[in-house]
Amino acid sequence: MNKRIWKQAWIIGGSTGLGAAMVQELAHAGTEVVVSARNSERLTNFCNHFVNASALSLDITDQDECNQAVSMLLAKNEALPDLIILNAAIYTPMNARSLDPAECARMMDVNYQGVVNMLSALLSHKSDDKEVTVATVTSPSGWRGLPGGAGYGPTKAAVINLVESLKTEVEKQGLDLRLVNPGFIKTRLTDKNDFKMPQLMEPEYAAKKALKGLASGKFDTSFPNPFIFYLKLLRHLPYRMYFWIARKLVKKNETP
Ligand SMILES: NC(=O)c1ccc[n+]([C@@H]2O[C@H](COP(=O)([O-])OP(=O)(O)OC[C@H]3O[C@@H](n4cnc5c(N)ncnc54)[C@H](OP(=O)(O)O)[C@@H]3O)[C@@H](O)[C@H]2O)c1
Repeated sequence: MNKRIWKQAWIIGGSTGLGAAMVQELAHAGTEVVVSARNSERLTNFCNHFVNASALSLDITDQDECNQAVSMLLAKNEALPDLIILNAAIYTPMNARSLDPAECARMMDVNYQGVVNMLSALLSHKSDDKEVTVATVTSPSGWRGLPGGAGYGPTKAAVINLVESLKTEVEKQGLDLRLVNPGFIKTRLTDKNDFKMPQLMEPEYAAKKALKGLASGKFDTSFPNPFIFYLKLLRHLPYRMYFWIARKLVKKNETP
């Protein structure tokens, strides 16, 4: 599967969708996997499918729970897992007409503040002697504001900025921060979308791509092409051209 074999991994948000597919891929490759999510019944049922996966129920929005989880793992294994993937997120489709402050705050709390909570817990417990790869699963919707992405896109933009800001500072402490930016994946999250999603991937395919990118050591694992290529191009367009394309997208998605 990978050039690098991870001995231990911790997938936060690993009970469904992309996270579950990454757990499966890692567990089958022989990695000891700790899996976290809020719904402990679903989490335990899922982990029971693997001899080398264990459940650690956790709400990433709760700073105390994040600290306790890190302490527990350290007490059990004396070191953090080689690979930690911050994959937990929620999504509510939203546009200008349905802009909902409470829902925006809820998304920000899980998708962004959850990452801050976990990074803070990891940094305060981390000793310098072992390198740990910490990947955050973000999204190309965080690269530039896209029509329909008003609530979710800013949460991912914030995480990308956070990781870029911390990357070089935390290297000294042995934390190797990375980004994974997948395009559309068929999960309960995208089941809420009522538009055609280009290059929609199965979670198993996306998990393989994500883990391969992480094993290769690169900072940014973005896929699939050519979808990502066009979005990266959009990211660099001057505003006039960018908004011209955005207007076309809005028109296309407007109900007559
Ligand atoms: N699907 C896509 O097209 C797509 C595209 C780009 C990026 N992404 C990103 O990929 C990641 C996985 O998405 P997905 O589509 O696989 O979603 P998903 O199936 O809904 O999985 C989300 C996971 O996160 C857990 N979770 C949610 N809130 C949590 C919290 N507060 N604390 C701890 N765990 C929590 C969920 O379990 P519980 O509900 O039991 O807590 C579940 O295990 C997300 O970061 C998402 O933003 C997805």
